[in-house]
Amino acid sequence: MAKTILAFAASNSSVSINRQLVNYAASLIDGADIETLDIHDYEMPIYRHDREEADGIPQLAHDFLARIAVVDALVVSVAEHNGSYAAAFKNIFDWCSRVGREVWQNKPMVLLSTSPGPGAAGRVLAMAETAAPHFGGNVLGTLAVPKFDENFDSEEGVLTNASLDADLRALLAKL
Ligand SMILES: Cc1cc2nc3c(=O)[nH]c(=O)nc-3n(C[C@H](O)[C@H](O)[C@H](O)COP(=O)(O)O)c2cc1C
Repeated sequence: MAKTILAFAASNSSVSINRQLVNYAASLIDGADIETLDIHDYEMPIYRHDREEADGIPQLAHDFLARIAVVDALVVSVAEHNGSYAAAFKNIFDWCSRVGREVWQNKPMVLLSTSPGPGAAGRVLAMAETAAPHFGGNVLGTLAVPKFDENFDSEEGVLTNASLDADLRALLAKL
């Protein structure tokens, strides 16, 4: 039976460059069923201890975890805001971690990031990769695509930097 892979951008932007990257990555994966999601569909109130005490954990956190539970592997491209995850994703992650710390559920995962500038993608990836094992993350590898506009053709939806493209293909082959 074909593997099922969940590929999504950890960005709630409707014009997310990380979504463009992860969609391209997904298109390179042969012989697997690809699922995707929009984290905007999992928007919840900001995590607050008092809110959890009063109302419990929102159903959407359970729903998000259920999307991970049913797949064999993950490809996630994380947007960088001020050196860390975008707050929209961090909030989902925080609520999910209240269900249990194993948010990534030991699924083999490839972490990607792209940013308009030279350094932001690498910075958030370093954070995400370091943190992942504490949350049931089984990170097979990471790839930062800096300077998105120089390295990616948005019209065609493809990486144009041959070296980065080769790195991405090699990374995805580990899945
Ligand atoms: C609140 C905020 C903070 C950001 N901080 C940085 C930053 O510190 N350095 C940087 O190069 N880019 C920064 N950016 C630009 C983001 O890297 C860029 O918007 C993001 O990668 C876009 O990804 P997306 O289109 O997938 O959402 C920031 C953007 C926002 C909205």
